[in-house]
Amino acid sequence: MGRKPDAVAKPHFSGSVGAGASSPRAARKAPPSPVFLGTALFVLGFVSLFTGHVVTDADWSRIRSRWRSKQIRIYEPIDIWKSRYSSIYYGCSGRSVNFRSAVPENSSTGYLLIATSGGLNQQRIGITDAVVVAWILNATLVVPELDHHSFWKDDSDFSDIFDVDWFISYLSKDVTIVKRIPYEVMLSMDKLPWTMRAPRKSVPEFYIDEVLPILMRRRVLQLTKFDYRLTSELDEDLQKLRCRVNFHALRFTNSIRTLGQKLVRKLRLMSPRYVAVHLRFEPDMLAFSGCYYGGGEKERKELSEIRKRWDTLPELSAEDERSRGKCPLTPHEVGLMLRALGFGNDTNLYVASGEIYGGEETLRPLRELFPNFYTKEMLAGDDLKLFLPFSSRLAAIDFIVCDESDVFVTNNNGNMAKVLAGRRRYMGHKRTIRPNAKKLNVLFQRRKQMGWDTFSQKVQKVQRGLMGEPDDIRPKQDDFHEFPSACICLRKPGNVSVTT
Ligand SMILES: *[C@@H]1O[C@H](CO)[C@@H](O)[C@H](O)[C@H]1NC(C)=O
Ligand SMILES: *[C@@H]1O[C@H](CO)[C@@H](O)[C@H](O)[C@H]1NC(C)=O
Ligand SMILES: *[C@@H]1O[C@H](CO)[C@@H](O)[C@H](O)[C@H]1NC(C)=O
Ligand SMILES: *[C@@H]1O[C@H](CO)[C@@H](O)[C@H](O)[C@H]1NC(C)=O
Repeated sequence: MGRKPDAVAKPHFSGSVGAGASSPRAARKAPPSPVFLGTALFVLGFVSLFTGHVVTDADWSRIRSRWRSKQIRIYEPIDIWKSRYSSIYYGCSGRSVNFRSAVPENSSTGYLLIATSGGLNQQRIGITDAVVVAWILNATLVVPELDHHSFWKDDSDFSDIFDVDWFISYLSKDVTIVKRIPYEVMLSMDKLPWTMRAPRKSVPEFYIDEVLPILMRRRVLQLTKFDYRLTSELDEDLQKLRCRVNFHALRFTNSIRTLGQKLVRKLRLMSPRYVAVHLRFEPDMLAFSGCYYGGGEKERKELSEIRKRWDTLPELSAEDERSRGKCPLTPHEVGLMLRALGFGNDTNLYVASGEIYGGEETLRPLRELFPNFYTKEMLAGDDLKLFLPFSSRLAAIDFIVCDESDVFVTNNNGNMAKVLAGRRRYMGHKRTIRPNAKKLNVLFQRRKQMGWDTFSQKVQKVQRGLMGEPDDIRPKQDDFHEFPSACICLRKPGNVSVTT
């Protein structure tokens, strides 16, 4: 089952893509009756709401059990632009009445310093969890320090990326946050702050047993390399605190938001809807994956050269990795998947990416599938100049445009993909597509052996449950930041917007 070396470069799909537009219709042709029943009931429920008629509890539970049943999930054709069930849910992260309020600075257990780690979104997770750890410890949190030495090298400080005053005031009921350690406290310290690193995904008891005594003895303590240092499983109140931090308190600075929104406006002026694609296709990442991406001998040589940088990497079979779904989709494959799902060639595509291995040449097949192809460089022009030396600020612009998109898709499950997926669920289940790399790969390899319509139907089938619906398939060990279920509430009957 070898992938042909020229599979990516050759535009052999251009003849058949024109037929793509007809495929969703084909898929809709013969839906089994439960679908009609469920959908009809659902629509009826809504109509009655809009006409001021409240659905009874019995109706409601019937509607819910209908659409939740496997039958419907499997056969129901979906609207590729919008989940029709999103309005039954809303993001909920309010404090419960018993949730302990912020401990004032003068009675807190000490000052917690945090040094975050990684790129923008990994740091975002670190900051979110740092607030929760400060709450657990009754500590005063000092505004976290960003990582200036990661792969993405960026000298920006917290206040260059995030609106620091908003951050402090939004969370003031939960945790006391200060910009720096007070001068008197610094003077009274006879030693440098104690520094330690928590193990990955530590439980609250770890912080209470191992960190608190030192914090109380030394008054100031620094936790380093802080990213995924708190378990995914916490009490609901603490999960909601996570959501308040991540989805509300962490707001980008005014200048970043202004430019991000400007790009969104430009896209919306051209077309009311757009798809945002986040591509990670850096040489390092590809080399690390041990996969083969169709670039022939040149690619094999270049990637294996980069691979030598890590001396502990195991020998991997590129084909095994691919069939296990471990290889990120190429830009071309992402384009094929989107066209097969039913996005027409006139769809506006915003592409967020860093360095792409092979550059323009690698992106060309995607551009051919979606000629209305935009990047922040194309949309922002000179406005981007001030941001160019700062990778995190550039990433923040992409974050905003991807977050605002109607449909978001990535070829990876990195931190940005996870954080945005979680955020989009919270913000109303905005359509978010996770490619089923394992099964799609089989289809890509057999692409030439089937007609476009068949291919398209099969792609739609393997993508079921991975389209950002409220009842999406969840991985066994899912991460709270990607599936913030404690912060997603079901509307009560009668509480679906009746403002019309
Ligand atoms: C989309 O495809 C059709 C043919 O299927 C072609 O006529 C049209 O020019 C294409 N649109 C764009 C924007 O390329
Ligand atoms: C702590 O500070 C608050 C004001 O922030 C003040 O009202 C309170 O009296 C102080 N408590 C102590 C014990 O100093
Ligand atoms: C934090 O403060 C609350 C109330 O003042 C107390 O019940 C709790 O035990 C404290 N926790 C720690 C870790 O100090
Ligand atoms: C109704 O929905 C809103 C969110 O749109 C929520 O804030 C509110 O608490 C809900 N009310 C009830 C009674 O569920």
